[in-house]
Amino acid sequence: MNAYDASRMADVLEVGRNWQVVADPEQADLIIFNTCHIREKAGEKLFSELGRLHKGLRGRPVRFAVGGCVGQAEGAAIFRRAPFVDLVFGPQNYHRLPLFLERLSRGEQRICATDPATESKFDVLPMVRSHGVVASVTIQEGCDRFCAYCVVPTTRGREWSRGVEEVLAEVTDLASQGVVEITLLGQNVNAYQGADRHGRTHDLAALIRRVAQVEGVKRLRFVTSHPADMTDALVEVFAQVPQLCPYLHLPIQSGSDRVLTRMGRGHTVAEYLAWVGKLRRAVPDMALASDFIVGFPGESDADFQQTLDLVEQVGFAHAYSFKFSPRPGTSAATLPQHIPEEVSAKRLEFLQARLDAEQLAGNQRQVGRVVQLLVEGVSKRREGEVTGRTADFRRVNIPGPAAWIGRMLQVEITEGMPHSLKGRPIT
Ligand code: 5AD
Ligand code: SF4
Repeated sequence: MNAYDASRMADVLEVGRNWQVVADPEQADLIIFNTCHIREKAGEKLFSELGRLHKGLRGRPVRFAVGGCVGQAEGAAIFRRAPFVDLVFGPQNYHRLPLFLERLSRGEQRICATDPATESKFDVLPMVRSHGVVASVTIQEGCDRFCAYCVVPTTRGREWSRGVEEVLAEVTDLASQGVVEITLLGQNVNAYQGADRHGRTHDLAALIRRVAQVEGVKRLRFVTSHPADMTDALVEVFAQVPQLCPYLHLPIQSGSDRVLTRMGRGHTVAEYLAWVGKLRRAVPDMALASDFIVGFPGESDADFQQTLDLVEQVGFAHAYSFKFSPRPGTSAATLPQHIPEEVSAKRLEFLQARLDAEQLAGNQRQVGRVVQLLVEGVSKRREGEVTGRTADFRRVNIPGPAAWIGRMLQVEITEGMPHSLKGRPIT
């Protein structure tokens, strides 16, 4: 979603205004950091990068702005740590960027815009401009789940959904620009409850059926889902809507019920496994992905072992894993039974090694299969190669020209590597 937001910031500054995105900060008159507050490391990176870029200017006048969730959470405190910053804004205020810049050019200093915006940014932003054949569309933002460790409900705000026609208009516009694959975005996207113009509420399953009817949309995905908000209707659309890709990012965080309860996740391991079973019965080749947090306060060796057991049982195609990072204002930040850093680090290393091995084995099992590849671009690493994804979200590189971008090709997989596949076109 940060990538989506960043491209919308570029849209609002470029369309009808005199700004232009440049490739190199050394050519920039304005540097915007779009930030993440989910773990402490991301926040710290902001200040080191700000310092590094500011130093490199050697007195050249450049405006600095900090947007995103660190902006929202830290607000004017950012001016104290980085006094050269001109503007701080939150994720619900970026549509007002042209106005803030105008105020700065009139001499105003240190603008901090983290108030809840009175209007929806989506009513103000220009139409989205695509930069390729795959694109994302935010359909839902914020979260009401308040998992014990998570800052999202305070930084992104409470859960809300965009209207059905608004989503369809954005998708139709993207499709007319040549986009063939759409990812519907939300912090908790399967909590989507959007109204259409008749006031009828659509859940995510109903929205997917509508979006799939937009001409030109060949592939559909959505991310991220909460297991406690899974529905049978959503499982059904996987089986019934051919454009919906057989890939689901369904974070579980831990394989221990005791830890899940302490995290306030609102579901058990057995319930999670029941959804996995239903999904795989509906779509046998379903690729599942997850997120994990290790070292949550009170996590015992036995709890961690249960996470490893779950990983083995499910066989994830992909997963992200993190050390617990206490975040200000969250209930887990003050929980007792802190896990020592060395223990968390070891658990993370162990878990990641297992997940990596599983991912590699899964990729190697693809060898010899013929898959549909959507070519997204040229390979950055190797000349004469193009790159894209399979329906189940595996990255594949094949020899081929840039003219193939946007094509859906039949490809035979020839090699499975840790993070990608190699293949050869057979059509
Ligand atoms: N510490 C570590 N990881 C976190 N995540 C969210 N909050 C924290 C935190 N405080 C992880 C979760 C979530 C992903 C987006 O980030 O795994 O699914
Ligand atoms: Fe954070 Fe996701 Fe939990 Fe919401 S459901 S509080 S975004 S981890």
